[in-house]
Amino acid sequence: MSLVNSVLGRGLKRTLKSLPNQKYPLIAGHKLQYSCNLKCKMCPFWRREDEELLGIDDEIRMMESLKKAGVSFLGFEGGEPLLRRDIGDILHESKKRFHTSMVTNGWLLKAKIDEIKDNLNYLFVSLDGIGDVHDNLRGMAGSFKKAVEGIEVAKKYVPLAISSTITKDNMDQAQGILDLTMKLGVSCNFQIAYDYTTAEKMSPEKLKLKEVIEMLALYKSKGYPIVNSKEYFTSILNSWYGDDPWKCKPWLTINIDPLGNIVQPCYVLNEYSGDKKVWDIDILKLWNQYDWAPYESCNKCALACYLEPSLFNWHNPSMVKERFLDPLLSLIKGELAW
Ligand SMILES: C[S@@+](CC[C@H](N)C(=O)[O-])C[C@H]1O[C@@H](n2cnc3c(N)ncnc32)[C@H](O)[C@@H]1O
Ligand code: SF4
Ligand code: SF4
Repeated sequence: MSLVNSVLGRGLKRTLKSLPNQKYPLIAGHKLQYSCNLKCKMCPFWRREDEELLGIDDEIRMMESLKKAGVSFLGFEGGEPLLRRDIGDILHESKKRFHTSMVTNGWLLKAKIDEIKDNLNYLFVSLDGIGDVHDNLRGMAGSFKKAVEGIEVAKKYVPLAISSTITKDNMDQAQGILDLTMKLGVSCNFQIAYDYTTAEKMSPEKLKLKEVIEMLALYKSKGYPIVNSKEYFTSILNSWYGDDPWKCKPWLTINIDPLGNIVQPCYVLNEYSGDKKVWDIDILKLWNQYDWAPYESCNKCALACYLEPSLFNWHNPSMVKERFLDPLLSLIKGELAW
């Protein structure tokens, strides 16, 4: 119950604080390193050299700055977060302060589950297709098998969703991913590949993508275990295929690079590099002085970590139920599904 109180307390405090046109980050994403054990075609991060990474003391310093700014949710990623030797300690410190999640390629999941299982509220495991389709996109034979083995173990301890990135090479895989999701008894989340300048251009062909999004929206409406909101799919259809663009609110998500720098305005446009140490900055001052206006009309990416919070609307009852009341009930029952 203390977790419920702390998340609710922070959420309520934030809602009240946000009233007079102030901007606050609600969610934080942190890349623990760029290095990775896989080589995905669409991914720019494994291609970068890591500099000296933050130690646990600086990780805590970062968390304290985020907490002070009012962040409630911290998600770890990379590169591959499970390659960090101190991942257990980092997650432990995070869970004391935030609703904590992580996204992993799953290769090391089975081997490292004991280090992480008590300090995660939610786990995402990336799967971009079945068997060879996944292995080819991920640049490593055996990565599908390893990820599925990891999911089978991890799902016993942590609420878990498959995270699937739709690219031009796996447009026919959504159905297979959904079938696997149900066979494994987990959830799944979809997002669309963005063409970073330093990775292979893998974004899906727009007309075919429309069919996939329509199919996923239909499955969502039928109650399939899809984490994306129904608005995630309808906003893409309305914006990319209609004349009703969503309004992006990149300030709701703050990103911190492996050196502890804030990435602004969003990690997509900035290709994940920052130059201001999070602990040297008054985040709220920065947030409220920064000119976010040019980005409100940007609809370039549909990364769930930006689009989902941008779409949230307290006046939409089904959204409040799905994003706030149902997770709260799950929390009370001991599992958070957001
Ligand atoms: C960068 S990875 C880091 C965590 C971990 N290595 C993994 O793959 O899950 C986080 C997520 O970003 C996704 N991703 C990689 N390249 C992308 C791109 N070009 N556009 C959108 N998502 C991408 C991956 O599929 C993965 O689900
Ligand atoms: S998407 Fe994840 S697993 Fe693939 S190369 Fe990038 S960081 Fe590694
Ligand atoms: S839609 Fe534009 S501003 Fe919003 S997160 Fe994506 S790239 Fe950034």
